[in-house]
Amino acid sequence: MTDTGSSSCVAVFGLGYVGCVTAACLASSGHKVIGVDPDRHKTDQIQQGRTPFYEPGLDEIVRATVQSGHLSAVNDAADALRSADIALICVGTPSERNGNLDLDQVRRVVRDIRSHLVAGSQLIVCVRSTVFPGTCEEIVIPELAAYPHVRVVSNPEFLREGCAVRDFMEPSLLVVGGPEATSVQRVASLYSSLDVEPCLVSLRAAEMIKYACNAFHAVKIAFANEIGALAGCLQVDGREVMETLCQDRKLNLSAAYLKPGFAFGGSCLPKDLRALSYRASRQDLKLPLLEAALPSNDEHLDRAVRAVLSLPGRVGVIGLAFKEDTDDLRESPVVRMLESLLGKGRDVRVYDPHIRLDSIYGSNRSYIMTAIPHIGRLLEPEIGTLLNWADNLVIAQKPSTELAGRIAASGRPTLDLVGSLPAALTPAAVSARL
Ligand SMILES: NC(=O)c1ccc[n+]([C@@H]2O[C@H](COP(=O)([O-])OP(=O)(O)OC[C@H]3O[C@@H](n4cnc5c(N)ncnc54)[C@H](O)[C@@H]3O)[C@@H](O)[C@H]2O)c1
Repeated sequence: MTDTGSSSCVAVFGLGYVGCVTAACLASSGHKVIGVDPDRHKTDQIQQGRTPFYEPGLDEIVRATVQSGHLSAVNDAADALRSADIALICVGTPSERNGNLDLDQVRRVVRDIRSHLVAGSQLIVCVRSTVFPGTCEEIVIPELAAYPHVRVVSNPEFLREGCAVRDFMEPSLLVVGGPEATSVQRVASLYSSLDVEPCLVSLRAAEMIKYACNAFHAVKIAFANEIGALAGCLQVDGREVMETLCQDRKLNLSAAYLKPGFAFGGSCLPKDLRALSYRASRQDLKLPLLEAALPSNDEHLDRAVRAVLSLPGRVGVIGLAFKEDTDDLRESPVVRMLESLLGKGRDVRVYDPHIRLDSIYGSNRSYIMTAIPHIGRLLEPEIGTLLNWADNLVIAQKPSTELAGRIAASGRPTLDLVGSLPAALTPAAVSARL
C-alpha cells in the first residue's frame, strides 16, 4: 500500500467496473474510500474482501484494502458522505435506443448527494462517468447550486476492462477539469502517487476529451482494418503495411495532423484517397471510413465558407496555396472557397507570400492563367495594400511570425481558419453568432 502523504476521504458512487477499480486502487494509494451502491450483492462482496466481478489483480487489492480498513462499501449515501471530502460519481451512463446518453443514474445520484448536504457543507463532487460536454454545467451544478461550498469537477476514466488495474496504476492520461483551480488540484492530488502529469483543463473540455479519445481509438481500429482488408485484396500483407506505417513517429504516430484547422488539399491526399476508393470498389470492397474522408473534408470547407460569407464588407484572404511555404495551387481548398465567395458577389482579394504572378512559371502559372484566371486577378502582391483595403481578414494558411505580427498590428477583425492566431475569431465562434 502506498501512502500519498496527503490522503483524502473519498466516497465512490457506483461500484461497477469503473467505481470498483477506482475505489480499490485509491484505497491502495492510502486514501480512505467508502464505496456506495444500492446493489447489496456488490457491497456485501466488497465488505467480505472480494470483487463483485472478475478483473485481473483486483481481488488482491480489494482484500488487502478492506483488511487494512482503507476500503469499505455501503448501500446508504449518508454513511459515505458523513466524512467524505470528495464524492466520485462512477454510475453507469448507458445508451438510449436513439444513441443518446441515458443520464438517469447521474441525475439520481446527484439528487441523492444533495439530499444529504446541509448549509455550509464542503464537498467536491467529481464526475468520473462518461458524460457529454455540458452535463456538469447543465445538470450537476444547478442541482447543487444551493450549496456554495460544494464544487463540481470532471475527471473522466480511461481504464480498459481486462487490464483496468494496470491502466489505473499506470495511466496513459489523467484529465481533471473544473471552473475552480483549488478543487481541480485537489482531485488531481488523489493520483499524486502515480507516475503521470495531470492535464488540467476546463470543465467542458474534460468531458469532451473522453469522447475524443474513444472516437480516436475506434477510428484507429477501423482505419487499420480497412487498410488490412484492401491490402488483402491486393495480395499485400496488411500487418506488414501497418507495422511499417507505425515506424513513422514524425507524421504517423505523432501529434502531426491532429489539430483542428482548415480543410486539406494539395496534389496528393485527395488524389490518393480517390484512387484507393476506386481500387476498392473494383474489388467490390466497401471502405466506409476511407471513403468518408473526402466528403468530411468538403463539409469542413463548406463550414469555413459559411463563416467567411457571414463577414461584412471587403474580405482580404491570406494564403492561396493549399498550405504554407509552397506555391502549389492544385486542389487548394482556398481556391474553392474564393470561387464560392465570387459566386456570391463578394468583394474579395487574396495575398500569398509565395505566389506572385510575375515570378511563378510552369504548370502553376498556366494553372492560374487558364484554369482559375478569375482567382489570379484577385491576387494582391503587397500585404500592406491588402491590410489597408480589407474590412475583414481571413487566415487560410499558417502565417510566418512576421506576417502574423503585421496582421495583428492592422487591428482588422480576423477569422482564423487554420487556428494559428490566439486572438483571432474561429469558424466555430462565427457559426455560434449566426
Ligand atoms: N467499463 C469501462 O471499461 C469504462 C471505462 C471508462 C469509462 N467508463 C464509464 O464509466 C461509467 C461507469 O461504467 P461501468 O462500466 O463501471 O458501469 P456499471 O454499469 O458496471 O456500474 C454502474 C454502477 O452504478 C451503480 N449505481 C447506479 N445508481 C447508483 C446510485 N444512485 N448510487 C450509487 N450507485 C449507483 C449501479 O448499481 C452499478 O453498480 C460509465 O459512464 C462508463 O461509460 C466505463
